[in-house]
Amino acid sequence: MSNQLEKVKELIQLREKARIGGGEKRIESQHKKGKYTARERIAMLLDEGSFEEFDMFVQHRCTNFGIDATKFLGDGVVTGYGTIDGRLVYIYAQDFTVFGGALSESLAMKICKVMDQAMKMGAPVIGLNDSGGARIQEGVNALAGYAEIFQRNILASGVVPQISGIFGPCAGGAVYSPALTDFNIMTRGTSYMFLTGPKVVKSVTGEDVTQEQLGGASVHTTKSGVAHFAVDNEEDGLKLIRQLISYMPQNNLEEAPLMECNDPIDRLDDALNDIIPDEPNKPYDMYEVIGTIIDNGEFLEVHKDYAQNIIVGFARFNGQSVGVIANQPKIMAGCLDSNASRKAARFVRFCDAFNIPLVTLVDVPGFLPGTGQEYNGVILHGAKLLYAYGEATVPKVTVTLRKSYGGAYCVMSSKHLRGDMNYAWPTAEIAVMGPSGAVEVIFAKEVASAEDPAKAQIEKEEEYKKAFANPYNAAQYGYIDDVIEPRNTRFRIIRALQQLQTKKLTNPAKKHDNLPL
Ligand code: COA
Repeated sequence: MSNQLEKVKELIQLREKARIGGGEKRIESQHKKGKYTARERIAMLLDEGSFEEFDMFVQHRCTNFGIDATKFLGDGVVTGYGTIDGRLVYIYAQDFTVFGGALSESLAMKICKVMDQAMKMGAPVIGLNDSGGARIQEGVNALAGYAEIFQRNILASGVVPQISGIFGPCAGGAVYSPALTDFNIMTRGTSYMFLTGPKVVKSVTGEDVTQEQLGGASVHTTKSGVAHFAVDNEEDGLKLIRQLISYMPQNNLEEAPLMECNDPIDRLDDALNDIIPDEPNKPYDMYEVIGTIIDNGEFLEVHKDYAQNIIVGFARFNGQSVGVIANQPKIMAGCLDSNASRKAARFVRFCDAFNIPLVTLVDVPGFLPGTGQEYNGVILHGAKLLYAYGEATVPKVTVTLRKSYGGAYCVMSSKHLRGDMNYAWPTAEIAVMGPSGAVEVIFAKEVASAEDPAKAQIEKEEEYKKAFANPYNAAQYGYIDDVIEPRNTRFRIIRALQQLQTKKLTNPAKKHDNLPL
């Protein structure tokens, strides 16, 4: 065999060695836990044959505690690029079979390299997390590695989309990279995220909790809102990432891809003309409205199980990707509260950063009252949503279906926050508050001194309703651009989005804003 052939053979052998990571036994143990390996995940996520790997021969450089006797090619993370539906993405997948995917200085540098490359190229970064955290033997070098990644997450925020899949442990400092990214997806039963594990929790607070109770997928998608999606298995998680990417542009200077639309744009839905119940306190399901007006009823909901009084997610109108934000009258009468405000604000800001127009469907009786909310800072959280809508420069189309009361009227993409097209259904009621509350404040004396106070209350409510429980009062000031037939909502939104295609609006130059936190 020639010298050159020998060298080629050696390369092939080294590659094979790198590809088995921590070895067959650890791969088997990974499979036994119901998890895939880093390379298997990448193969499932990317278009077939599109993956090109970087840094397969990187090894750690630590000598503490005899760890230099154990080295693996690639050192606990698989990195590189490939395509999803033909579009370039950068990826890193932590390899639990190598030191439990624990983060070393070299491993961090591999991740930083793909992030830097993604920024240069203007392409999304996808991180698949499955790691025991900072590599303990490396001490501060591992922590430095994390901080280098965080810094890149921060600079990439709003420039290229960043998506995290949490497919195993993600603890301690490791949680902050996913927290800085745009979307987190967790697998039920096999993933968890927490700052301090159950043992430390027990010793500090005395609480007895399991990993699942402390930071499982259901906790983070229902209680904390840290994760946006919970999936039953990794296959579903990877499919979801592909779907998510399809709604996004490659970076903040591009537009999301336009899909072919075979759903008629002028499709009328007569059911919408009769969906609002006669009784003002009776709910209806906002999902029915969303499902009817968007292309093919295809809605990719974000934060589905968190703050369900507001609905947010991606959809398309005539093939164009949009962010839908809608109050849900079925949950807490569609009131805004702290969590709903934070959830929607983050979504609005993502869409605005990535040139995705906003379609807002309004039916909101106001902010949720009470000490629970006030002590929790609902003023600041509500201000976040207000801020997000007010700073957004993407096309903004709003449809008020029923109630739009008080401060919530201002917040929900009103004309005054630079709403571009504000429509209302004939059932809209735009006022400072609902009739009974209003009468109690402004007609309290008249009602109390009337011969029949109950009758007087009803009469005054009727008077108030006549004046305000309609869209025409707001329309007469131009705050509503048009009152539309509900069944024609899809067509009107599509036409508005078409009109707004060339919208150009910029905010004043500043170092950065000071969003209320
Ligand atoms: N540093 C160095 N090595 C680590 C590590 C870390 N932070 N976490 C895991 N490993 C190694 C283990 O030593 C083990 O090595 P081996 O395969 O050579 O035996 C391998 O990764 C797998 O870990 P193991 O503990 O056997 O897996 P598990 O599934 O039973 O448990 C964890 C997973 C994450 C719960 C557990 O490893 C753990 O608690 N790790 C430490 C977490 C932590 O506190 N990290 C610091 C926070 S920043």
